[in-house]
Amino acid sequence: MKVLITGGAGFIGSYLAEKYLELGNEVYIIDDLSTGTLENIKHLQEIQRYKERLFVTVDTILNHETMIELIGTCDIVIHMAAAVGVQYILDNPLSSIITNIQGTEKVLELCNKFKKKVLIASTSEVYGKHTHAPLIETDNIIYGPPTKFRWSYAAAKLMDEFTALAYCRTKKLPTIIVRLFNTVGPRQTGRYGMVIPRFVQQAMRNEPITVYGDGDQTRTFTYVGDVVEAIVKLMECKQAVGEVLNIGGTEEVSIKHLAEKIKELAFSKSKIKFISYDEVYTKDFEDMQRRVPSIEKIKHLTGWKPTSSLEHIIKSVIEYSRANK
Ligand SMILES: NC(=O)c1ccc[n+]([C@@H]2O[C@H](COP(=O)([O-])OP(=O)(O)OC[C@H]3O[C@@H](n4cnc5c(N)ncnc54)[C@H](O)[C@@H]3O)[C@@H](O)[C@H]2O)c1
Repeated sequence: MKVLITGGAGFIGSYLAEKYLELGNEVYIIDDLSTGTLENIKHLQEIQRYKERLFVTVDTILNHETMIELIGTCDIVIHMAAAVGVQYILDNPLSSIITNIQGTEKVLELCNKFKKKVLIASTSEVYGKHTHAPLIETDNIIYGPPTKFRWSYAAAKLMDEFTALAYCRTKKLPTIIVRLFNTVGPRQTGRYGMVIPRFVQQAMRNEPITVYGDGDQTRTFTYVGDVVEAIVKLMECKQAVGEVLNIGGTEEVSIKHLAEKIKELAFSKSKIKFISYDEVYTKDFEDMQRRVPSIEKIKHLTGWKPTSSLEHIIKSVIEYSRANK
């Protein structure tokens, strides 16, 4: 099978590429390297049996001609390319909206033209400002006003979900939508606001671990390998077509406790420092207090559940950071 992975030089995309190569497929990647890097897939290009089945195009998903060629060639499409990360979205508000709305629309339009099954990567951010747990796919959605730009990412991804569902309903395009909750593992960069790699880097340098806000906000974290397994299973699951599914961990942890845990596991002398959101982001930033998924739907359809504990995830990131100091 020929698998197109948009954003395949990104964090999750590069693991998906490896998995589909391991399963014997040809893998096609398109990535504009805005937040991704060829370093993420260099190890794949160095393995002879993978190298001959891996095709990389450095370009934007907004390029119609390139996308016609790639989607026309491949059998299935996994759409991971997006402007990602709170800091990146706040720094690049307009181009992020264009990539995340027009880019996904382009992917869907061409998948429909060639009738190719497509998986769209959405996000837990679409739920917005809920404080209850767990979050279920049918929950209402609550956002702040458009002056608070962090919501543009959530709103754009929500529009992607509407567009994908509309293609599925009106054109019978086989589409699957996944809402990924914080996904972590080696190779993820802390540059754009991802919390675990940022804390690990600070801990390893014995610098203050900077917790934004009071640290009582909670999250769950999913190991990237578990997310890849879930996506592969869903692509093979007929009942998943036309559905929106959460993919996430269930171990809820406060950001303050996460900082303490990372400090302990990295044997770090770092102090934990609390910084107000105003100091880090623009004045009108707001955070989500709690984000825990219900994974009953994906469990029911595919039997999937996460296998890696938070401790395992943190240790793997520390180990990677030590090896790549
Ligand atoms: N990592 C998470 O915790 C998380 C959580 C929720 C959703 N997601 C979603 O998963 C997907 C992958 O995220 P990630 O964490 O691997 O981030 P990432 O930044 O590593 O990957 C995104 C990739 O898309 C590429 N890209 C961006 N704009 C592009 C364009 N116009 N054309 C071609 N390529 C482009 C980037 O260069 C990058 O390689 C994204 O759609 C993201 O919204 C991730």
